[in-house]
Amino acid sequence: MYLTKREAKIRQSRTFTTMKHFYLCLIPILFGLLLYCWSRRKLYKFSTQVQGPPTLPILGNGLKFLCKKEDILNVFIESLNPYPSPTRMWFGPRLVLFVKDPNQLQSILQSPKMTTKAFFYKFLEPFLGQGLFTASGPKYKIDKKNLQPLFSQKMITAYCQVFQKHANKLVAGMRMHVDGPEFDVLCHLNFTAFESSMDLLLEDKNKHSIDYKDVPQYVQRFYHIFFSRITKFWLHFDFIFKRTSYYKEQSKMKEMANTMIAEIMHTTVPQVIQKLIEGGNFSKKNTSMLEKLAELVVENPRDLSIEDCIDHLMTFMATSQDSQSSAVAFTCMMLGAYPHIQDKVVKELNEVINDKASVNLDDLSKLGYLDMCLKESMRLFPIAPFIFRDTTEEFQLGNLSIPENVTLTLSIFHAHRDPNFWEKPDEFYPEHFAPEVVAKRHPFAFLPFSAGPRRCIAQHYSYTYMKILLATILLNYEIECRFKAQDIKLIADISIRPQQGYMIKLKNRTN
Ligand code: HEM
Repeated sequence: MYLTKREAKIRQSRTFTTMKHFYLCLIPILFGLLLYCWSRRKLYKFSTQVQGPPTLPILGNGLKFLCKKEDILNVFIESLNPYPSPTRMWFGPRLVLFVKDPNQLQSILQSPKMTTKAFFYKFLEPFLGQGLFTASGPKYKIDKKNLQPLFSQKMITAYCQVFQKHANKLVAGMRMHVDGPEFDVLCHLNFTAFESSMDLLLEDKNKHSIDYKDVPQYVQRFYHIFFSRITKFWLHFDFIFKRTSYYKEQSKMKEMANTMIAEIMHTTVPQVIQKLIEGGNFSKKNTSMLEKLAELVVENPRDLSIEDCIDHLMTFMATSQDSQSSAVAFTCMMLGAYPHIQDKVVKELNEVINDKASVNLDDLSKLGYLDMCLKESMRLFPIAPFIFRDTTEEFQLGNLSIPENVTLTLSIFHAHRDPNFWEKPDEFYPEHFAPEVVAKRHPFAFLPFSAGPRRCIAQHYSYTYMKILLATILLNYEIECRFKAQDIKLIADISIRPQQGYMIKLKNRTN
């Protein structure tokens, strides 16, 4: 079509204006990008000093993990195995170093500079608030010191009765499986873990308007959403996450948790505090964590408010569910798969416990072989296969000066199967924990509860609980399991699990 000179000029001028706007917008974007890259120059330079799998521009190594859930652990292992520790990966804009060498793990875990949890632990805050698991900084340090008495030897001695009560209930509940087909033992153990922690933490569980029995499934779902956010780096951004169905579901669960929390806050905790103040006797023997927590509030009013306690209660409830059940379930599977080892454990139980109705701490200290089996199972199947820290300032790891804003992924899973430290790394071999063998091994080759200032607050508590459960199960039932250690295909979420479920069979124990 023929254009007049004037029309052509107008069109030319319009094109020019559009181009001008385009460049005017592009220049600040490019400038911003340049500034962004310049501010990260230390990070880019540092990343060239560390070996790791090839990365794509912008996406880094993120696409590799867009695989089926059951493949994620293998992808991790295969990606890391060819490289020395630490190994470099990029997840979008985030530089992540994977550490699997026990010497390096020791330097990191023991350093007071490395106590800040990775940025994505904040995704847990809607549920756990500023409890010990998620918090960092000075307030965290004071809280950890203040809460330590909840897990003292004296308190654990008192908790033993509650643990035994629930172990007996567990064994009664499992009776329906005797001589039946194989079943997944985890649901029984999860229910027991939940009931016993409710008993210790919330005392008056039946008085709340929320059906407290729904809580375990909310905790599981919440962990699932948390794991999805970690592994899909675009969900790290709140503005994207808030547009997903995950967010809607999380908000609903958060509301439910808030209702329960508010009820405890406004009823039980103040009542316990009042009772304690009126009674004036803070040194009496407590059997309840809630009561002890309330006592700590009275003793430390400046550091520990009722609101803080709510976050701590929620944290203890969430952290104690899956962890202990899963460790006991894996141990049941292993003892079922290796009958000669199970026989040895039962022989020891008969010698130490005999016909006693309940087990105490003194009895547990004599169950050395059961302890070895439990630890060996936690070595092969660590409940926390990876833990994460962020550098908040430059950190010296051997010859490497790691800049700030790097995420360190500490691979407990790799340390637990490192052939340099374990005679039979992929087999169930309790002799790995014979005292003379332990004495010779690197202390950071076995880290089921982590170590250093941010280690699990409940290590002794959990060992006590798990041993009481295992002893009670084994004194009542013979366990069978068709999966040996090497047959168990693992899938990873925030923990690791057997793909086939925690399948065992039971027979009545006759001896
Ligand atoms: C078999 C049982 C358990 C295992 C294997 C286990 C393991 C761990 C690990 C590896 C950590 C460090 C996590 C990290 O740094 O990211 C941790 C921290 C923690 N665990 Fe456990 N845990 C168990 C049971 C429990 C129980 C029963 C409770 C509460 C009653 C609990 C409460 C906590 C808390 C509050 C932290 C945070 C400590 C801190 O950062 O200072 N855990 N646990």
